[in-house]
Amino acid sequence: MRSDIEPVLFDEPAIHKQLDELAAQISNDYRDHELTVIAVLTGSFMFVADLLRRIPLPLKLDWLSVVSYHGKMHTSGQVIFKQVALPEVVGRDVLILDDILDSGHTLAAICEKLKAAKARSIRVCVLLSKKKPRARQVDADYVGFEIEDEFVVGYGLDFMERYRNLPYIGVLRKELLEQPNK
Ligand code: IMP
Ligand code: MG
Repeated sequence: MRSDIEPVLFDEPAIHKQLDELAAQISNDYRDHELTVIAVLTGSFMFVADLLRRIPLPLKLDWLSVVSYHGKMHTSGQVIFKQVALPEVVGRDVLILDDILDSGHTLAAICEKLKAAKARSIRVCVLLSKKKPRARQVDADYVGFEIEDEFVVGYGLDFMERYRNLPYIGVLRKELLEQPNK
């Protein structure tokens, strides 16, 4: 798998160092609140596990499952919520965790839903944010790393469900993105 990635952008120590900083900021900002974390499946699973164990506050955790891709690497723009019931957020201070902010469709749709469900406050934390114009405006309150507009995998992020188990993040070689479905 390593040979499919060029270059590696963030290795494990770099990711963990950044998580220490994010966790310190979040722990400070929410020290007087009970936090409700809503994490977006599947790409955020490693990020969530590593970040939350660094936050020594009482908190609740729920997961949301959404689809916006149809197989490959471009978002369809249409965000479908896979579960019937949304997590309970009325009057809660919600922190949304996702792997990556790309077009903004996913996080904009989630923020809208949670606002309509009457969360008291909503903030967004992403591990990665692509430097590019967004189809929908999303203000991420906490960002691990800003990256160029390239397709990255590893540390939870996939290409057609592969590479999620890599402990580092890197750019998937372009030739592999162009292959027909396998
Ligand atoms: P958005 O709705 O375009 O912002 O896309 C958000 C979702 O698309 C993320 O939660 C990821 O699951 C996926 N995604 C966007 N860019 C990448 C990438 O470079 N690699 C892997 N997944 C990505
Ligand atoms: Mg995702």
